[in-house]
Amino acid sequence: MSEKNNIISSKGCSKMTHLDFLKKFKFSKPHEPTPAILGCFFFSLCLIFCLFLLDYRIVNGLNWQSLVITGWFKSNVSSRGQPLLITGFTSNVSSRDQSVLFTGVKANASLLESKKLGFLEVGAEGCDISQGNWVWDESYPLYQPQDCMFLDVGFRCTENDRRDNFYTKWRWQPKDCNLPRFDARVMLEKLRGKRLVFVGDSVGRNQWESLLCMLSSPVPDKTSIYEVNGSPITKHSGSLVFKFRDFNCTVEYYRAPFLVLQSRAPNGAPENVKLTLKLDQMDWSSVHWKGADLLVFNTGHWWNYQKTIRGGCYFQEGAEIKMEMTVENALQRSIKALTDWISREVNLSKTHLIFRGYAPVHFRGGDWRTGGSCHRETQPNLSPTPLSSYIEYNILVNGLSEHLRLGNVEFLNVTSMTSQRKDGHPSLYYLEPGVGPAPVHRQDCSHWCLPGVPDSWNELLYAVFLKREISRRRV
Ligand SMILES: *[C@@H]1O[C@H](CO)[C@@H](O)[C@H](O)[C@H]1NC(C)=O
Ligand SMILES: *[C@@H]1O[C@H](CO)[C@@H](O)[C@H](O)[C@H]1NC(C)=O
Ligand SMILES: *[C@@H]1O[C@H](CO)[C@@H](O)[C@H](O)[C@H]1NC(C)=O
Ligand SMILES: *[C@@H]1O[C@H](CO)[C@@H](O)[C@H](O)[C@H]1NC(C)=O
Ligand SMILES: *[C@@H]1O[C@H](CO)[C@@H](O)[C@H](O)[C@H]1NC(C)=O
Ligand SMILES: *[C@@H]1O[C@H](CO)[C@@H](O)[C@H](O)[C@H]1NC(C)=O
Repeated sequence: MSEKNNIISSKGCSKMTHLDFLKKFKFSKPHEPTPAILGCFFFSLCLIFCLFLLDYRIVNGLNWQSLVITGWFKSNVSSRGQPLLITGFTSNVSSRDQSVLFTGVKANASLLESKKLGFLEVGAEGCDISQGNWVWDESYPLYQPQDCMFLDVGFRCTENDRRDNFYTKWRWQPKDCNLPRFDARVMLEKLRGKRLVFVGDSVGRNQWESLLCMLSSPVPDKTSIYEVNGSPITKHSGSLVFKFRDFNCTVEYYRAPFLVLQSRAPNGAPENVKLTLKLDQMDWSSVHWKGADLLVFNTGHWWNYQKTIRGGCYFQEGAEIKMEMTVENALQRSIKALTDWISREVNLSKTHLIFRGYAPVHFRGGDWRTGGSCHRETQPNLSPTPLSSYIEYNILVNGLSEHLRLGNVEFLNVTSMTSQRKDGHPSLYYLEPGVGPAPVHRQDCSHWCLPGVPDSWNELLYAVFLKREISRRRV
């Protein structure tokens, strides 16, 4: 295995060994067989292995003292034969850490960052932030759920009794540069007097709530942040507009899962047609989107047979109902409607337009209706799923390609990185305490626990937003 060689042959080199290694380290599955047995097994193995191969080193440059030992093992216990990477025993093992033998490296994250150019620095223009790794970072999450009142109960996994919190501790580290550390004050200052608008399905709402939490965490007076119509966040109305009073800015969400207009079937339509999606018209709320300063779209999760034709929702172009049109075809047409709308209606020198890519779901052994599950996932996947398996991703990228090339739309390319995060879903923990956890055959492996994966999308959003602001100032 090349990774093995990589680690072993780099014996004797300095920090770079750890840097390279830390970037790569990932976990295997803890529940097969039991963690305790695995733990003992690997701990003994580690001791033996250490004698031969390990690189003991006091890591310099940390502002706390620790001994970090890193090692590499090929696991032959996991059923899928995945390599198991073990890392990060700190010499100062607190009792909390002992209970989780294989948790992370307590290395100061800035150590990792020191070698790379910042995304916003001159010279990092070519850095593709969608390529990288999930790295363990003890300084995460960016906020605590109990401090954030802008969260739907369905995303409050910890409060709904999910016990593990590893999934909150991963940070996205691009391969060729560093993301700017999220700073809510900087973002709010740049949003002063402006409108930030999210449009899309409930996964878009998931991301919007994540951003509300990230932005509000340093604001001391939480009452200065309010919904302009007084609507509660859990009420599933069509739109919610939160104002940050001291910054005179709004962070808005418009529910439009298809982006295009859904309406009642026209007179004279066949009886099985209950609703139609008008593939050549944008959702009614589009009049509110177009004046936004930062506009973030997503779609995908509703473009399937179950959520359309099966429920009597057919596709319509002009006056004609297309009884035979496939869902994929319809999604394609709707993206065309979106790009036409952008060309026609959006002032691109005012509006920074971003399309956030499709977020993969992780149902195993079924789908959301047929008992698919993800409740035993506590670790990310070692590698991303090939993008070719996500038809929604491909239709979007093809449909937007001309606008992406022209720079009219910026693509937040989260599909690949998100495909690794099977550990981040609410699974059974989307019901409030006392009501949940949900039955095992009714899991949510589509949305994301917060704090969690959408925070990382928003760190990317923050990076590209700042980049645009900086380049505008230069002009
Ligand atoms: C792993 O274990 C299986 C049996 O469980 C064995 O057939 C195989 O040779 C082992 N592989 C390695 C690399 O040890
Ligand atoms: C371990 O770290 C804690 C704080 O992180 C400190 O209070 C304690 O003294 C340390 N123990 C040792 C043996 O260094
Ligand atoms: C990491 O190190 C930097 C300086 O090297 C320091 O400013 C920062 O507070 C450290 N973070 C932690 C979590 O120790
Ligand atoms: C999105 O990111 C993946 C992984 O880095 C990459 O393979 C793909 O080409 C990217 N797509 C676009 C449209 O940039
Ligand atoms: C607040 O922002 C809006 C634009 O969203 C602007 O029209 C208005 O003048 C601003 N008010 C103040 C007091 O700055
Ligand atoms: C587009 O936006 C820019 C910047 O806000 C503004 O100066 C310009 O007048 C706008 N153009 C139109 C046609 O509204």
